[in-house]
Amino acid sequence: MNERISVIGLGKLGASMAAAFASRGFEVVGVDVNARAVDLVSQGRAPVQETGLDELIAANHGRIQATLDHENAVLKTDISFVIVPTPSDENGAFSLQYAKWACKEIGRALAKKSGYHNVVLTSTVLPGATRYGLIPVLEYGSGKKAGRDFGVCYSPEFIALGSIIRDFLNPDFTLIGEVDERSGSQLEALYSRVVSNAAGSARMSLENAELTKIAINTFVTTKITFANMLSDLCEQIPGGDVDAVTNALGLDRRIGHRYLTGGTGYGGPCFPRDNVALTYLAQQLGTSAGIAEVTDQINRRMPEQLAKRILAKVRRGATVAVLGLSYKPHTHVTTESHGVYLARELSRHGLRVVGYDPMLPEMDLDELRRDIAVLASLRECLAQAEAVVLATPDAEFDSLTAEDFKNEWASVTVFDLWRRLNVRLSDIPHIQYVPLGNSNDDEANSARLKELWGEPSKDDAAKTTA
Ligand SMILES: NC(=O)c1ccc[n+]([C@@H]2O[C@H](COP(=O)([O-])OP(=O)(O)OC[C@H]3O[C@@H](n4cnc5c(N)ncnc54)[C@H](O)[C@@H]3O)[C@@H](O)[C@H]2O)c1
Repeated sequence: MNERISVIGLGKLGASMAAAFASRGFEVVGVDVNARAVDLVSQGRAPVQETGLDELIAANHGRIQATLDHENAVLKTDISFVIVPTPSDENGAFSLQYAKWACKEIGRALAKKSGYHNVVLTSTVLPGATRYGLIPVLEYGSGKKAGRDFGVCYSPEFIALGSIIRDFLNPDFTLIGEVDERSGSQLEALYSRVVSNAAGSARMSLENAELTKIAINTFVTTKITFANMLSDLCEQIPGGDVDAVTNALGLDRRIGHRYLTGGTGYGGPCFPRDNVALTYLAQQLGTSAGIAEVTDQINRRMPEQLAKRILAKVRRGATVAVLGLSYKPHTHVTTESHGVYLARELSRHGLRVVGYDPMLPEMDLDELRRDIAVLASLRECLAQAEAVVLATPDAEFDSLTAEDFKNEWASVTVFDLWRRLNVRLSDIPHIQYVPLGNSNDDEANSARLKELWGEPSKDDAAKTTA
């Protein structure tokens, strides 16, 4: 059982999962409504840009077919993973439009199928969506009953763009929401043959799994925002150093080091929208998700606040280079990128902004080019810049030395949002180095603290002498 797998939706996550399943020896049929994606996969090529995907599809070409025909794929396989978009709607909820369409097609195929088939939804959805939004579509189309005639699971993946395949094959755990025991057991057995690291499964109801998926992302973003709060505080205390604080915090095993760095806000296609969706869900259910709501608000304010701090140190009309336009290193994706937001904000306030990203050739920056000049190389940016913002902790920027910042300006101000060049750029005559999350003015910061605590009183002095 489960030797043949269909993957419905050959996008970033679906194509990566299809390739990973094939690499484990399964026969895979991929389905997409986009003929180009189907053609590329059929030719043994990646339909989207993702680390290692081209190679993995090519290496397993013999076990991957691709088609536009959902029915054919369902009839040929034992289990179907549905990985279609669930874009945010006007309320911030996840739209089921594409998933319903896919389920309608699967339902039709199930009507013609005699054997058991398991339908696994991988796309991110809100609690209740699988049971009340999609199962009725499958049952109506097939004339069959979920949990009796066919299986249904909700099983999202915890992966990051740029490392989808590695993350999929090495999960901390696999999350399985199940309509009945049989569906979940089958999926668990399948995962145990796919993952590299003997990760265990957390099995539960569909609704609990749907909530768990969003909760993980909202928790992680809360942690990021907490570190950013500490970063702000460190800038206001003499000798303040966010890395000293967060490195120590992370030693506490209840907290841990991951996502506790202090830098720009979080972005990308998943994190920001999950907080909005959880807030919406809570409101609809007559409760509130205050932490998710506030985390989202703080994160959205960050580029504007950061721009204010930069503007205070740079003359109007100056050329500033924003290095790092993707929402994080090693991806071309610019969705909700804080580097992009910051670049726009600085341009809006009268600076001339030039931008660069190591993934530039794969980026779609047409809209951004209306506000800033995107340059083809890091050197070109640095040659013009009176101020430089290091917006992502990218390896290419890590190799920069003080010499690289020399240009026609007597002094260049470097705002290092991730403090990667601290050792190399502080105390260099032609560089004014401003690391985010560090005290930039110990004297003023000391004066403020001194004022807060006041002069020692007679009583304090008496106590000390005694
Ligand atoms: N990419 C990620 O890092 C990530 C992480 C976690 C969760 N997810 C979730 O996974 C889902 C898919 O994300 P993605 O990034 O792979 O999206 P994507 O936009 O890259 O790919 C979706 C694919 O589905 C295809 N499609 C749409 N309707 C279809 C249908 N009815 N039948 C077959 N194919 C159809 C599209 O043509 C496209 O190729 C979303 O719900 C997303 O939230 C994605």
